[in-house]
Amino acid sequence: MCGIVGIVSKEDFSSEELLMMLKKLEYRGYDSAGIAMSGSKLYMEKSVGKISELEKKLDGKITGKAGIAHTRWATTGSVTQLNAHPHADCKNNIAVVHNGIVENYLKLKKMLVTKGHKFKSDTDTEVIAHLLEDHSPEDVMKTIEGRNAFLAMYNGRIVAVKNGSPLAIGIAKDRYYIASDALPFLEKTRDVIFLDDGDIAEIDEKGVKFCGEQHEPQRIDWDVEEAKKGTYAHFLIKEIMDQPAAIENAATQNDEKIREISGMINNSFGSFFIACGTASHAALSASYFFSGIAKKHINFSVGSEFPLQKHFLTDRSLIIAISQSGETADTLEAIKAAKGENAKVVSIVNVPGSTLMRQSEYSLLTNAGPEIAVCSTKAFTSQLSVSLLLAYAATGRLDEGKKLLKETSKKVKEMLTDAYLMKIKSLAGKIADKEHIYIIGKGFNYPIALEAALKIKEVAYMHAEGFASGELKHGVLALIEKGVPCIAIVADDETKQDVINGAAEIKLRGGYIIGISPDNNDIFDFWIQVPDAGNASPIVNVIPSQLLAYYLALERGCDPDYCRNLAKSCTVK
Ligand code: M6R
Repeated sequence: MCGIVGIVSKEDFSSEELLMMLKKLEYRGYDSAGIAMSGSKLYMEKSVGKISELEKKLDGKITGKAGIAHTRWATTGSVTQLNAHPHADCKNNIAVVHNGIVENYLKLKKMLVTKGHKFKSDTDTEVIAHLLEDHSPEDVMKTIEGRNAFLAMYNGRIVAVKNGSPLAIGIAKDRYYIASDALPFLEKTRDVIFLDDGDIAEIDEKGVKFCGEQHEPQRIDWDVEEAKKGTYAHFLIKEIMDQPAAIENAATQNDEKIREISGMINNSFGSFFIACGTASHAALSASYFFSGIAKKHINFSVGSEFPLQKHFLTDRSLIIAISQSGETADTLEAIKAAKGENAKVVSIVNVPGSTLMRQSEYSLLTNAGPEIAVCSTKAFTSQLSVSLLLAYAATGRLDEGKKLLKETSKKVKEMLTDAYLMKIKSLAGKIADKEHIYIIGKGFNYPIALEAALKIKEVAYMHAEGFASGELKHGVLALIEKGVPCIAIVADDETKQDVINGAAEIKLRGGYIIGISPDNNDIFDFWIQVPDAGNASPIVNVIPSQLLAYYLALERGCDPDYCRNLAKSCTVK
């Protein structure tokens, strides 16, 4: 949900440097982009579309000692050049880039207009620039409502304000970098300060000064090479192919910590797995893992709904929040609600230093490395891996869980051959012109049916729905017509016959059955073979659907890395 970057330097630097950083945040939004550089006067340029459009417009290099830039995921004000950030005050002295929603902006705008301020855009952000004409950043932070982070550049310095949305500052020898996350500047420095809610930092060429307590930087050890496409055409296919390593890395945890957290789960009562989007499918899987493997009931709720269920919590409840970014506003609001009821919070997170990680009592890193494609893949399989490990640890069988994940990683590696990819590509060619796709699964693989549908919707813009196979007869069968593709996820477990029966009901009504299964079956019109992975079957079974979504996107002319209308990190509610 919008990416913001800034640089303050002792020497002049070029606008290209800011755009290079901004490109690493493009996954956060790509409706429009803009830049402001502070030289002898304030230079500002904006354009609708991806950052490459802005790059074309910046005729050669603009230089300065301070600069800010923004890539937008529109919330308030339509996608126009005027609404692109940065936004300026009446005198064009203050430039602001912002991530969040100023929920009371209409009231504030009315008040500012009455006082004579002239507005140029329909955005909420512009009120910040006008408020800063007469008020301190502290007062502005207190005045604006909602989850927000902004950078304001004036008098050759940048003021960074965080209250809800994320911000990180990178400290290099002669430069200070500011960004929505650390990835844009990790190649320049590993020394990072993650701002907390309520933090205001003033950055000029002499250093970083916090209003209130000064923060010390921490070292971040992410492998930045992993955030590059390498020889792959898209991040999405690269990240799908990264999964054997991601599963193994997820399984490489501190045994003591895993045992401690699984013990906490065992001793808790009235606990919940919570998450959003793809991570919510991992959370639902985790609930199935705990029920099937550890025989322990843990509730499941999506982050945005959870605050309405907080009344069931006690001080014995544990919230296990799952998130790739650790910055999803709905998930953060959910843990805030839980803490308000004295529940404890454990998180399973991919991005080190993220807000969720810092706000949890205990945290496990999924270790999937940077995930850039908006559509989440390797983060999901690593979330499944950590959840499975916890379920095994909860029954005192951690080593068995680790062995299973190691074997699964090996099986996935062997599965992902060129021939395998070409087979799924050929399937995409066959069904790319269809309007609907239905997916059925049961038990451990019911959440995988939901996840498979989400992948296809997000990147190929096709209507896809996942169902529990047993639900077909309760209404879904009415949707089946001749030739409709239906994916049946058939694990070699107690659910096998039920899912096959569901597929048969679809087939006799004309459906085209695509089976994802270790064994072929007469009922399948197209068979995608997967290795039998026992309790880890969801990890293996989701991968063919990720590949299918990728190839469907290519067939339908969609960019697999940038999903229409979506942003990777949803930092607004
Ligand atoms: O960063 P998070 O895991 O908290 O993000 C949650 C969802 O926004 C995310 O999984 C979203 O659904 C992805 N676009 C899925 O591919």
